[in-house]
Formats: sequence, C-alpha cells, structure tokens
Amino acid sequence: MASTPKLSHEPFEKRSILLLVGILIVVAIGGIVEIVPLFLVQSTIEKVQGMRPYTPLELAGRNIYLREGCYNCHSQMVRSLRSEVERYGHYSLAAESMYDHPFQWGSKRTGPDLARLGGKYSDDWHRIHMANPRAIVPESIMPGYPFLVETKLDYDNIDKVMIANRRAGVPYTDAQIANAHADLRAQASADGGDLAERYNKATARDWDGKPDQITELDALIAYMQMLGTLVDFESYDVDASDNRR
Ligand code: HEC
Repeated sequence: MASTPKLSHEPFEKRSILLLVGILIVVAIGGIVEIVPLFLVQSTIEKVQGMRPYTPLELAGRNIYLREGCYNCHSQMVRSLRSEVERYGHYSLAAESMYDHPFQWGSKRTGPDLARLGGKYSDDWHRIHMANPRAIVPESIMPGYPFLVETKLDYDNIDKVMIANRRAGVPYTDAQIANAHADLRAQASADGGDLAERYNKATARDWDGKPDQITELDALIAYMQMLGTLVDFESYDVDASDNRR
C-alpha cells in the first residue's frame, strides 16, 4: 500500500496551538494591509462644498425615519457601480454621511435607495405615497403611514437632540441651537424667516398640505426632499479630493 506523502501543513494540523498562532499571524498581515494606510491619509472624508448639518426640521424628520424603521427596507448609499450610478445618480461620498449619527446606509433594499431622493418627486407625491403607497405604485409592498399627517410633531426637545449630535461631532453652532425651535417653525411655513442664514440651501414651505399645523409628515418630507441635494457636485473634483498626499 502506498504511503501517504508527508504534508507540509501536517505540524499545524497536529498541534492546535501552532495552528492558532499561524492563524493569528495570517490575520495580522491582512489587518496591517488594511489599517496602516488609514494612518497615512489625512482624512478618509473627501472635501466637498455644500455639506451642512441638518436643520432642526430635517433632523426631526430623520428621527421619524429612524423610529419607523424605514432603514429596514431602504438604503442611503449609492455604490460606485455603473448600474447604480445610472439609476440613482452620483455615487455616495463619505462626506454625505458625516453628520449622520448613526449613518443610514442600510443593509438591504426591499425598496429603492433613497440617498438621492431630494427633488425627485413633488411634496404632493410624497403626501399621497406616504399615506398609501399603493395609490401611486399599485404593486408596492411598502406599508402606509397615514397617521403621520394626523400627528402633531413633538419638537420640544429638538435643541437637546442637536446638542447630543454636537457631542457626537456635528458642528452645530450656539446660534443654531438657540434658534432651534424658531428655525423649525420657520422651515415648516412658507415664510422661512432667517433660516437660510444658518443653513445653506435650506428650503422652507408647508410640506404636508396643512399650513396651520406642523405634523410629523412635515418633518419627514422636509428630510426626504433634502436627501442627496446638499453636496455641490459641480465643484466636486474627484482628483482634487484625493487625500493621498
Ligand atoms: C417593508 C419595506 C418598506 C418599508 C418599511 C418602507 N418602505 Fe419605502 N418603499 C418600499 C418599496 C418596496 C418601495 C417601491 C414601491 C413604492 O414606491 O411604493 C418603496 C418606495 C419608497 C419611496 C419612493 C422611492 C423612489 O425613488 O421611487 C420613498 C420615498 C419611500 N419608500 C420612503 C419610505 C419611508 C420614508 C419609509 C419609512 C417611514 C419607508 N419608505 C418604509 C418598501 C418599504
């Protein structure tokens, strides 16, 4: 009977401690290759024009997005694949989620990606779709959220939410926090007050079709209409934002 040739990995297979040490060495090499470059770049977030912290109303809308678990079915992350860029628009940049705590990239798309949603549809479209998605897309399996337009937005603590975000690194100024309630009300009315002074490109209007009330739907639509609209892609230069120097 032919004897089995001696295998070079036999010592590893016979001694579990040696195998463990071998695994650690191999994994460490992989780790070094991935981690060391991160110490050599100045920043992993590219420099872009236009990105700003969310307005109080958008932030309140974002909280409703989280509360309702929209992220379970929707991603907010356009990958740099041709099929995605053709469908959704410019691929997502790290800078676009730098004020998101926690980020909303999601992990599954039961519905479409929402990273470039802003301006795609009218407020009316969103009003009808949120109340009953099947009124617009008959085969939709998205749940309806008809209660949002009936529920007054509770924004008493929105300044506290901003302070919490500031602790996590969002550069809200004292003026932005001091004006949180006024700015929120201003953005939900056609007037807008001096909102634009504190928040670049913030638009103000009645979002939910009920001008006399600020509802949860106001906040959610304001949030959705802002998504993907902040970064100025005209001035974004892929090569100039390359951080490897
Ligand atoms: C059970 C999964 C599910 C959940 C939860 C869900 N959606 Fe959807 N959503 C879908 C599907 C599927 C579609 C595609 C069909 C349609 O337009 O209704 C969709 C479509 C959308 C669209 C249209 C996107 C486009 O580009 O056409 C928007 C906006 C949207 N959802 C917002 C939300 C928001 C906001 C929430 C949370 C309040 C939410 N969705 C929760 C499944 C879901």
